[in-house]
Amino acid sequence: MDIKKIRKQFPMLANNTLMQGKPLVFLDNASTSLKPQCVIDVMNRYYSEATSNSHRGDYDLCYFVDKEINDTRKLVAEFVNCDVNSVVFTSGDTEALNLVAYGYALKFLKKGDGILISEIEHASNALPWFRISELTGCSIYYINTDNGKVTPTNVEKALKEHKNIKLVSIAHMSNVLGYKVDIKEVTKIVHEYDALICVDGAQSVPHFKTNFKDWDIDFLAFSAHKMCGPTGIGCLIGKEKLLNNMDPFMTGGGMNVTFSKDGKYEPLPAPVKFEAGTQNIAGIYGFGAAIKFLMSIGMDEIEQREKQLRSYLNKKLENQDNIVCVNPDSDSGIFTFNVKNVFAQDEGTLLNSKGIAVRTGKHCAKMIDDVINEIATIRVSLYFYTTEEEIDALVDALINGGDILDAYFN
Ligand code: ALA
Repeated sequence: MDIKKIRKQFPMLANNTLMQGKPLVFLDNASTSLKPQCVIDVMNRYYSEATSNSHRGDYDLCYFVDKEINDTRKLVAEFVNCDVNSVVFTSGDTEALNLVAYGYALKFLKKGDGILISEIEHASNALPWFRISELTGCSIYYINTDNGKVTPTNVEKALKEHKNIKLVSIAHMSNVLGYKVDIKEVTKIVHEYDALICVDGAQSVPHFKTNFKDWDIDFLAFSAHKMCGPTGIGCLIGKEKLLNNMDPFMTGGGMNVTFSKDGKYEPLPAPVKFEAGTQNIAGIYGFGAAIKFLMSIGMDEIEQREKQLRSYLNKKLENQDNIVCVNPDSDSGIFTFNVKNVFAQDEGTLLNSKGIAVRTGKHCAKMIDDVINEIATIRVSLYFYTTEEEIDALVDALINGGDILDAYFN
């Protein structure tokens, strides 16, 4: 992988002066990723040359927009190996998970049924289920993780213990701990217990190959903005027979065949029945360009590169006693830690003063405290375009904190 050549394609990495006038060291990729010029260009092209609405016009511009939307749907399907009609465009991972909650769980779950999640989930994969529990009376159960690791064994234990589980919803990779779940094996077990599995792929799909069909998962949610694409676009991938039985939780233009004064309407088939209103067309253009960009590099190469970077970071910090890492055995690009005696957000402020962007706090996973025994942490998240020099800059800042933090006086 030619990192120099790749980095040249990201305008944010050239001459950025918004971080204290220092060269930007962007280590917050689990929050959002940077965008290459090809993504920006294709979106600009839609706004400057190709603006028109989708599914609504008989003139050439509309034809081009419809074609781009269909082509992007095909591209998404190829990227995660699913059928093209399984791809529902949403505003992102959160809307996709809410679509499963309100479109599937609200319709099919009832009092006495159970939903199984884990205590390390992000808010987007917890709060929709809490709402469904409020609305239907169904119960929420938690997987007892092994120090934050969701394994086939602890999933099976929970399924055995709570006989009424109808839906399991877990992150393929935690946004705080970066542990990869064996989704294929977990799915096999979930299906043996006659439940469905919904996978939050926000932190996994951007970083390694996803195989919806081979893993036999029922639902998969992810966002474009964490994989070099724009914000405001993502998708839900669902097995077609499930999507066909689900109700849309948004209705409106573009999703119906007909409606009449007696209040009756006929929805279009999935996936379009879930896409009411004008789509984020520029976002879909950008999503397609991002997928092409990642495919041109190769997902296996991306995974490999991130492993190398993670091992480089681990080595650099292995003898630093003041760094307490909460996921030392993860090989992902997510490295979460604290500096002894320094509050996470103070450390984040120090890093900011050196042009280094990281995330601090609870990272939207507010049930994780008991698992990691910390109320706030610093999260460094790498992506394939991160360099060893950027990691050196981080390590230097962590070791030579300067005198604004008490801990560094000792
Ligand atoms: N889910 C994003 C994160 O983990 C926002 O930072």
